[in-house]
Amino acid sequence: MSNSIFLFFFSIFYISSTSSSSTSINTTHKCSVQQTLSLLQFKQNLSSINSSIDDTYYSPCADWLGSGYNPIMMNWKTSTDCCDWNGVTCDHSTGDVISLDLSCGMVQGTIHPHTTLFHLPHLQRLNLAYNDFTNSQLPADIGRLSKSLTHLNISNCGFNGKVPTDISHLHKLVSLDLSLNWNGTDFLKLEPHVFINLLQNSTVMEQLSLEYVNISSVLPTNLNISSSSSLKLLNLGSTGLQGNLPHNIFSLQSLETLDLSDNSLTGHIPSEISLLPKMVTLDLSYNGMDNLLIQPHIFRTLLTNSTFLRDLWVGEVKIALVLPTYLNISSSLRSLRLPSTSLQGKLPDNIFNLEYLEVLDLSGNNNLSGPFPKVNTSSSIPLTSLKSLYLSDCGLNGSLPKSLGNLKYLEYLYLSNNKFQGNMPLELFSLQSLKRLSLANNQLTGQIDMLDNGPILQTFQRLTNLTGLDLSYNNFRGDWELDALSSSLTNLESLVLSYSGISVTTSNASRYVNLGFRVLSLASCSLKVFPVSIRAMTHLEKLDMSNNDIQGHIPDWIGEIGNRLFVLNLANNSLTGIIPNVYKDWSLLTGLILNGNQLEGKVPTSLNKCQRLMVIDLGNNQLSDTFPSWLGDLPNLKVLVLRSNNFHGAIVTSSKVEFPFQHLQVLDLSDNGFVGQLPTKYFQNFNAMKNVL
Ligand SMILES: *[C@@H]1O[C@H](CO)[C@@H](O)[C@H](O)[C@H]1NC(C)=O
Ligand SMILES: *[C@@H]1O[C@H](CO)[C@@H](O)[C@H](O)[C@H]1NC(C)=O
Ligand SMILES: *[C@@H]1O[C@H](CO)[C@@H](O)[C@H](O)[C@H]1NC(C)=O
Ligand SMILES: *[C@@H]1O[C@H](CO)[C@@H](O)[C@H](O)[C@H]1NC(C)=O
Ligand SMILES: *[C@@H]1O[C@H](CO)[C@@H](O)[C@H](O)[C@H]1NC(C)=O
Ligand SMILES: *[C@@H]1O[C@H](CO)[C@@H](O)[C@H](O)[C@H]1NC(C)=O
Ligand SMILES: *[C@@H]1O[C@H](CO)[C@@H](O)[C@H](O)[C@H]1NC(C)=O
Ligand SMILES: *[C@@H]1O[C@H](CO)[C@@H](O)[C@H](O)[C@H]1NC(C)=O
Ligand SMILES: *[C@@H]1O[C@H](CO)[C@@H](O)[C@H](O)[C@H]1NC(C)=O
Ligand SMILES: *[C@@H]1O[C@H](CO)[C@@H](O)[C@H](O)[C@H]1NC(C)=O
Ligand SMILES: *[C@@H]1O[C@H](CO)[C@@H](O)[C@H](O)[C@H]1NC(C)=O
Ligand SMILES: *[C@@H]1O[C@H](CO)[C@@H](O)[C@H](O)[C@H]1NC(C)=O
Repeated sequence: MSNSIFLFFFSIFYISSTSSSSTSINTTHKCSVQQTLSLLQFKQNLSSINSSIDDTYYSPCADWLGSGYNPIMMNWKTSTDCCDWNGVTCDHSTGDVISLDLSCGMVQGTIHPHTTLFHLPHLQRLNLAYNDFTNSQLPADIGRLSKSLTHLNISNCGFNGKVPTDISHLHKLVSLDLSLNWNGTDFLKLEPHVFINLLQNSTVMEQLSLEYVNISSVLPTNLNISSSSSLKLLNLGSTGLQGNLPHNIFSLQSLETLDLSDNSLTGHIPSEISLLPKMVTLDLSYNGMDNLLIQPHIFRTLLTNSTFLRDLWVGEVKIALVLPTYLNISSSLRSLRLPSTSLQGKLPDNIFNLEYLEVLDLSGNNNLSGPFPKVNTSSSIPLTSLKSLYLSDCGLNGSLPKSLGNLKYLEYLYLSNNKFQGNMPLELFSLQSLKRLSLANNQLTGQIDMLDNGPILQTFQRLTNLTGLDLSYNNFRGDWELDALSSSLTNLESLVLSYSGISVTTSNASRYVNLGFRVLSLASCSLKVFPVSIRAMTHLEKLDMSNNDIQGHIPDWIGEIGNRLFVLNLANNSLTGIIPNVYKDWSLLTGLILNGNQLEGKVPTSLNKCQRLMVIDLGNNQLSDTFPSWLGDLPNLKVLVLRSNNFHGAIVTSSKVEFPFQHLQVLDLSDNGFVGQLPTKYFQNFNAMKNVL
């Protein structure tokens, strides 16, 4: 299970507790006293949180919170009818509570095993999704609701432990969502037999979402499920399923969405998959490279005969299809993602005439060959609506056609790691919708000058939505003025020109600076001065200006840049003076590379604040210091290079740390003035190095 799970979880900030004291119940309520009390008792042990969602991540709650939404149980008071409470819905005629929707309700607390929540005998729908019940278990008492409950959603609530077996007694369930429950270390567990009961016994179930629920098991090849089952959505993504998938799953005729991604499934995908009549979204990706196989003929039928299929994602499944010259796909397809599927042959001639296709991902099919097809714009055939085209690592060659400029809806274009050569068509810069463009690691040539008021800059300035540009490792020529560029493209976050052949200058004229830069890679760009505008780039995560000819001191404000700086690489320049101290929070810094300059003075002691540092390379300078034994504190340090400096004295151990340099794999102290021997304490603790050697 990948780290992407983090995207789904809020960062939670505490606010206040909202327990209310009840005195009398208004007897004119439509809602029964018993059900009111059950709700109030449930509320009693809970409190409100003020959750603030990092707006860069998707969450279904983002809209609500952005608009100053209040904790859902604020108006749960004895003085009012519970049928009027937020999230509560009653049956009009009886006053019974039939639905409780606390989703995104900013509720926090522990759910008691005998919570009164399940004392609502007519409850049909219960939605607790996106609240914080971390380290609660789903109570077995939920089985009390077997006569009424049709919808249960506990997605992203922090539940842990096992799903109680009683869940399969809820035989009226139409929709069950147990996804994304994680308490910081463990995922919610579902025992295989409970899962199988759920599948076999829930005859009316339409939606079953178990994404990131830990099933971790090989299922029996033959499940007793009927093809007439009403299941429309089956999400088994990241559930730890192994072995061959029960083939009956592919006979569920009502299926519209099937997600089997990110497991360890093996074997052949049966031909039934292409015959599922209502399939809209199918994801078979990432079950381990080549663990799953689809026969080419089954795959072709899937592409052509699926009437409703919109999204098909089969990453790392072996298809071994030789792409046909003419690709025939169902007109319903909008997104076709086939990364690393062992495809062979050339890109089909009609690839840009697939009228409705918006996403095409063939990256990682490195046995493809041939050129980038011409974008045919004859009036008799439709032109694609492609927004995203991923062709990285595809073994493609030849030149890029000027007709690329006809793909006018393109937002994401990734052509890196191919063998494209010849001039880059400047028509690319007229694709005004572009958000990301990567041409890295090809053999492209051509003059591209990006100077103040130059014609290319003027076209380029219209790419107002561009956030990322990567031209690295090519053979371009041209002069770019960093300030003119960064002040005109205000959305640019990542600029990677390392080894592109382009020379970068900086006027250091004060003007508007793009503050949003996260990545600036200008290695080997003939830079001569340190760009002052970097000081204002407060979001910088990676700064690489190695292999330039930057003269003078490292600016004393360098320790202020970023708040999330990961990597600082200034190797192989002509920098002089001392290494300034770190002033800001550099707690995320993993790499500091200053090799090959003329830096003097001592190793700045503020580096011991950078607890995540993995690489410190200060080699080939003129540093004059004793051995910085205090670096032994850094718990993640793997590489320490101090070679060819003026370090001197005996190498002593720091008394503070019991096991210094535990994870060190590379230590280069050569060509210095050290005397004596490495302390035996170090040798005892160089465990990581022993493993490498
Ligand atoms: C509230 O928590 C206490 C102690 O954890 C427990 O004894 C009590 O039954 C809980 N009340 C409800 C309504 O869950
Ligand atoms: C939650 O936080 C937001 C922003 O910090 C604030 O505007 C809102 O009033 C808070 N809500 C409560 C209930 O405190
Ligand atoms: C009881 O509820 C009714 C209607 O909701 C309201 O008009 C009345 O004031 C309430 N009485 C008390 C004592 O809260
Ligand atoms: C998460 O739950 C498991 C039990 O399922 C428990 O062992 C673990 O300590 C919990 N983790 C945290 C961070 O509370
Ligand atoms: C399956 O459902 C039937 C009736 O709907 C019930 O009696 C039986 O206990 C259920 N089986 C399991 C394993 O939950
Ligand atoms: C469960 O609730 C969450 C949050 O509202 C929602 O995104 C998700 O689609 C729901 N699950 C189902 C199966 O409806
Ligand atoms: C799933 O649970 C099993 C034990 O039941 C555990 O060994 C495994 O590490 C868990 N997997 C994940 C991804 O948490
Ligand atoms: C399969 O399911 C059907 C209907 O639920 C049931 O009648 C039959 O006994 C089951 N067969 C087995 C082998 O479990
Ligand atoms: C796919 O559709 C074509 C034309 O509609 C039909 O002849 C063919 O039998 C179908 N293939 C399968 C495997 O159903
Ligand atoms: C594309 O597939 C459809 C349906 O299978 C078929 O009718 C049509 O002849 C095919 N077209 C080409 C050019 O192969
Ligand atoms: C690519 O082609 C080579 C030579 O034909 C073959 O050995 C290799 O397995 C192929 N790789 C993939 C991923 O299909
Ligand atoms: C830029 O993005 C915005 C928001 O997504 C969109 O409305 C606008 O049309 C885009 N501009 C261009 C030139 O595509």
